[in-house]
Amino acid sequence: MPAPSLDSIVSLCKRRGFIFPGSDIYGGLANTWDYGPLGVELKNRVKQHWWNTFVHRRTDIVGLDSAILMNPKVWEASGHVETFSDPLVEDVKTNKRYRADHLLEEQGIKASNLDADAMWKLIQENKIKSPDNNELTPPKEFNLMFKTHQGVVEETSAMVYLRPETAQGIFVNFANILQTMRPRLPFGVAQIGKAFRNEITPGNFTFRTREFEQMEIEYFVKPDGAKDAFDAWQKDVWNWFTVLGIDKKNLRVREHDPDELSHYSAGTIDIEYKFPWGWGELFGLANRTDYDLKQHEKFSGEKLLYTDPHDPKDKFTPYVIEPSFGCDRSVLTFLIEAYTEEELDNGDTRIVMKFDKHLSPVDIAVLPLSKKEPLLEKANEVRDLLMNETNLVIDFDVTGSIGKRYRRQDEIGTPLAITVDFGTIGDDKEQGEEDTVTIRDRDTLVQERIHISELREKIAEYWKK
Ligand code: GLY
Repeated sequence: MPAPSLDSIVSLCKRRGFIFPGSDIYGGLANTWDYGPLGVELKNRVKQHWWNTFVHRRTDIVGLDSAILMNPKVWEASGHVETFSDPLVEDVKTNKRYRADHLLEEQGIKASNLDADAMWKLIQENKIKSPDNNELTPPKEFNLMFKTHQGVVEETSAMVYLRPETAQGIFVNFANILQTMRPRLPFGVAQIGKAFRNEITPGNFTFRTREFEQMEIEYFVKPDGAKDAFDAWQKDVWNWFTVLGIDKKNLRVREHDPDELSHYSAGTIDIEYKFPWGWGELFGLANRTDYDLKQHEKFSGEKLLYTDPHDPKDKFTPYVIEPSFGCDRSVLTFLIEAYTEEELDNGDTRIVMKFDKHLSPVDIAVLPLSKKEPLLEKANEVRDLLMNETNLVIDFDVTGSIGKRYRRQDEIGTPLAITVDFGTIGDDKEQGEEDTVTIRDRDTLVQERIHISELREKIAEYWKK
């Protein structure tokens, strides 16, 4: 099957309640998106799976949920006030804004991490114009942090930033975590939360938005253990994506050139995914060295040292390996990877979202063949049985023809559908014996007739596979 277009993904997401344009009834707000009833289930499952894999199933990582608003000194210490910017140019006629480095790179001219003057020289030398073929203004550094005010009276309130990365909440809590949890190196702190960047050119659906969610780990190691930890994380993260169904063919590792490294990094690799518009960053792994802890020590005056438990005189600043996941990008990747168009034996085409069964927003659909009693009551009993005796998410759908209902469940990726029909209530032997139901597998389309009393076991077996 050819890779799906972004338009088919956006359209399915809206049609089926995964993702809606933000502020839709007011004509939207550019590049904002709202997760609908199924989108929030999918996103929560991605987050739960991540937390389970990297926090609950490991003995060396603890969690944190720090505030979005932080003392502005944090961002001076971290280097974001000084260096977290992109080179902005404007079309002199349309006033549309672009990233100078992107315009240069589109012409095959490498521009990462050049300063504004160097970029301007290249723009002039190569006679680079805007996409509307107009002259450009000289680049200026545009800081990506959103500013706002904390306090009730605007004139006297304090300026604060919306955090551009969750990582700093972990660094500023380093001493608290050492004191309360007494972890031994190597250990990590994980956090999931919103971050904000005033991107010059957001776009590609939820790939680049100004408000987004990160899933980050700061993994503290002895300085001489940094390389091994880096390599181990690269493998663990790759496995997390592939275990959840991302085809290896659509993933690749890209090492950052020294001149494109973030100000805090001694080495970074991205795991990239083959998005419909080309390869793009899905995940970043950086060796942040002791940069952040040392900077916070300098700016706060607090000691941020680890003491070797075997030698209390040995106090040192750990190095940090940072696996940083884009949560929205991960969700988008799972959506794209799941999207499948299949030709059926009867010549029809079906769209089916082949999510890994741990990620599907709905686990089981209960579908009564008719709204008539006592069939409907029987279907309700089956739903209640599953709701009370499993932890699964159950959908109950009575509207439209059974064919349409199967199509909807395929498009939202429900792994199993249970149909309650006239056989179930003892009215039609040809459909099946009394108290039996049909269970349909989303991927194989195999329909099996089983007794209601066997349902729980059958379902448990399916989720164990
Ligand atoms: N913490 C790394 C990043 O936000 O890119």
